[in-house]
Amino acid sequence: MGWNSWNSFANIVNSQIVQQQAKTMASNSMKEAGYEYVVIDEGWWLGERDAAGNIVVNPKQWPAIQPGQKDGDMANIATYIHSLGLKAGIYTDAGRDGCSMYPDSGPKLLNTGSEGHYDQDFLQFSKWGFDYVKVDWCGGAKEGKSGAVQYAEIARAIQNAEKTTGRKLYFSICEWGSQNPWFWAPGVGEIESTIWRTGGDIIPPVVESLHDAEHDKRIITLKNVLESFDAGLHPEAQHTGYFNDLDMMVMGMRGMTDALDRIHMGLWAISSAPLMVGSDLTRLSPATLSLLTNKEALTIHNDPYGLQPIKVDEPSAGVQIWIKPMAVAGRRAVAVLNRTDASTQVKVNWEKLGLKGLPKSSRDVFSQKDMGADAAISVPAHDLALLIVDGEDKAPAEYSPNGCSIAGMQATRGPDFARLHFANSSGHAVVVRMKSTSGLSTAIALPPTTGSEDGEVGLILPNGTADISFEGAGVAIRKLDVYSW
Ligand code: GLA
Repeated sequence: MGWNSWNSFANIVNSQIVQQQAKTMASNSMKEAGYEYVVIDEGWWLGERDAAGNIVVNPKQWPAIQPGQKDGDMANIATYIHSLGLKAGIYTDAGRDGCSMYPDSGPKLLNTGSEGHYDQDFLQFSKWGFDYVKVDWCGGAKEGKSGAVQYAEIARAIQNAEKTTGRKLYFSICEWGSQNPWFWAPGVGEIESTIWRTGGDIIPPVVESLHDAEHDKRIITLKNVLESFDAGLHPEAQHTGYFNDLDMMVMGMRGMTDALDRIHMGLWAISSAPLMVGSDLTRLSPATLSLLTNKEALTIHNDPYGLQPIKVDEPSAGVQIWIKPMAVAGRRAVAVLNRTDASTQVKVNWEKLGLKGLPKSSRDVFSQKDMGADAAISVPAHDLALLIVDGEDKAPAEYSPNGCSIAGMQATRGPDFARLHFANSSGHAVVVRMKSTSGLSTAIALPPTTGSEDGEVGLILPNGTADISFEGAGVAIRKLDVYSW
């Protein structure tokens, strides 16, 4: 959770803008709600290196902030962000060149990528004090590289940097889904927590201070938001620590209404997608801010299982029921998404949520009201209702492993929700490769467990998953409970 400079500032980003945004995030209730990263996207570096290959930045763009600092040192801004109790993020490209997309006029800036300098650059980011790095794919795509290979090398460079500085550098992969990163990004380089972009940009940037004919006509629509959501669903790849990234948020930006903001917040929260707000935080309306900091929506977002939702029903065309199983037994997040131009009334078919009978309670997150468990839900045109529902799970099918394999396991009724029980006494998270004879292959980071208490993570198994195995040293797989609906 945090802020990213790209959607609202594009290549005009500078120290003053970042300081102002960071200060706003620290004081407008977002920080208390859990937003923590302040990420500087493309435009911070214009491609210059010194004779030793070190990155050189424009000293006017990144001047000293405190006495004793030098102009042109990126540590200045990282220190400033840290002084507000926030974490700092930076950006580079996996190839030689970056994207250099906006302003669109003028020569493209070349050599703003890290290829050939992976170890040097990621160590530099870490030494400057950055805690997060987004790695784009413009240069990589231009050179026809393999994403799986390049990002694995970058993961190694990040790990080397972390060893040297002792500072964690969170890895954000931005390959736009072009080479199916959901197959190789979870656990790349044995990293236990990663996000990867699943699609292209949600919008071209909307920089309110810039005016040109092309830019002035940019307006964000429902289509932008829904396309990013639809392209980002790969629930079988998303587990505790590994998240499909639906792209930076555009809440409250030009064209976004309160209803579109609700759809955006509701879908990103129920998807446990990174909440990287790309808006100008100094211009957020009270309504947008209160959606971004809605405690119950964030409880759904931050659920420890971190799963994506499954569409369980479409009572009429364009009216969809999405549900996400949460870590508490019998709890579901439910989104009723109305993609149509007409308002609708929906009675949820609770059977389809994998619950026994009616839920015990149902809570409307955005209106913050308890609902009758069997009440009809009204959703205006192009809007979304978000609920937290508590009930009782139907009994699961239980599978016990032989070593690390489970023979006879079958998911046949559509995407199935499963709970994996394990013991991990190693004291640290262990990355386990999960494979099935049906072709499923992904990674899960199993957190450490203490004493005799088993750990538990949630999984979504695609239809057809059969005979499953878990490869990874130091953990014991206890059982897999599979819930069908
Ligand atoms: C790509 C990325 C965006 C942003 C821009 C910067 O388009 O997908 O998120 O980083 O590059 O040019």
